[in-house]
Amino acid sequence: MEFAAIKGFKDILPGDVGHWQRLEAAARRLFEAFGFQEIKTPLLERTELFSRGIGRDTDIVSKEMYSFPDSKGRGLTLRPEATASVVRAYIQQRLYQEHSIQKLFTIGPMFRHERPQKGRFRQFHQINAELFGDPGPKSDADIILMAVYLLEAVGLKGLTLNINSLGCPQCRSPFRKDLGAYLADRSSLLCTDCRRRSEINPLRTFDCKVEACGMVVFDAPSILDYICNTCRDHFCSLQDYLESTGTPFILNHRLVRGLDYYTKTAFEIQTEHLGAQNAVAGGGRYDGLVKLLGGPDDPAIGFAVGIERVVALMEEEGRAEIRVPDLFIAVLGEAAEKACFVWAAELRKSGVRVEMQYRAKGLKAQMKKADRIRAKRVLIVGDDEIGSGKGILRHMETKAQEIIDLNKTVTDIKRVLERNE
Ligand code: HAM
Repeated sequence: MEFAAIKGFKDILPGDVGHWQRLEAAARRLFEAFGFQEIKTPLLERTELFSRGIGRDTDIVSKEMYSFPDSKGRGLTLRPEATASVVRAYIQQRLYQEHSIQKLFTIGPMFRHERPQKGRFRQFHQINAELFGDPGPKSDADIILMAVYLLEAVGLKGLTLNINSLGCPQCRSPFRKDLGAYLADRSSLLCTDCRRRSEINPLRTFDCKVEACGMVVFDAPSILDYICNTCRDHFCSLQDYLESTGTPFILNHRLVRGLDYYTKTAFEIQTEHLGAQNAVAGGGRYDGLVKLLGGPDDPAIGFAVGIERVVALMEEEGRAEIRVPDLFIAVLGEAAEKACFVWAAELRKSGVRVEMQYRAKGLKAQMKKADRIRAKRVLIVGDDEIGSGKGILRHMETKAQEIIDLNKTVTDIKRVLERNE
């Protein structure tokens, strides 16, 4: 029997990893510049954390979670997103006592049992940033700028930043009522799911991908006509901050996001290049979540970038840089093989990328191998060279050769290699 990866779970091969590393390095650099620190939370949490945090009527909780009981019958779930887990850690570890503002980021896999398609997987990876303790629009702007700058840093173009305000529980309540009534009048036009959603949580109909439902919600009431003065001022200030940094955005009053915890600001960065899965990053404010999960009444805002989707766009922009060996050591003879084993180990220890065959064949085969793996230079060492203490260093691109002293220190050799770049 040949094993294959589970549907929707994929291997990230060495040839693909270059873009991942570039994206993660850019995130670490940028997020640290914004004062964020990395946190790692478990992949497995109590099911209740997500059902309460994300909302029982959301697609994620009602259909997509990988949940199973532990040996004592308690429900466990592979995390479908990171926000609820980071909030749990924030409360459990009392991180709010350390600093009044906590800025955290986390990178790792998430699990959702969705139908796999282009840009949608069952195990996928996110880069998340969460900011706790500030209720104002300036932190909204910081969070949105971080997402935009990260995507710019890895060279993505043609993205659109959509923003909306979902109001607070006070102003959302009349909106929900009016939206519910609007949908009830048109319920025969809605899919079965949306008919149910329109009664329990009408905002969820905005997420529906069924065309007929999309047409119904197109003319639905706009939340922006309902938000109270406080929410409106917050939203207008956010727009001012974005404008002051020259960050273009569009107002999208149908952007509600697929998770129930959002209040006030919601945003999504979208692309036209990934078909239906057009959201590259999304986030928003979730002022009630920390309290809902048993912590203090602390405001918060955050976002997540979908790594696979960003990497797919990076691939369209160009191939990842392949790391090639700095040096291939071609050996002839037993004494040369032994001496070069030690020598390669020392060079590798000091960070030089050195390749050498485990079972060295003839010189021609070794040169072929060096060529295939695109080694920048080859050092040719035979037993004679060991005797004379000299080796031949060949620059593979220019074909220039020089004699180098094998008794030089690693630092000297590194200098020679750098000179040859
Ligand atoms: P989300 O919109 O569910 O938000 O996911 C964020 C991003 O993860 C999406 O924009 C997309 O790029 C990627 N993503 C989601 N599902 C999949 C999938 N099945 N396959 C591939 N990529 C996917 C959240 O998860 C929130 N926790 C974001 C947040 C953080 N809000 C506040 N803080």
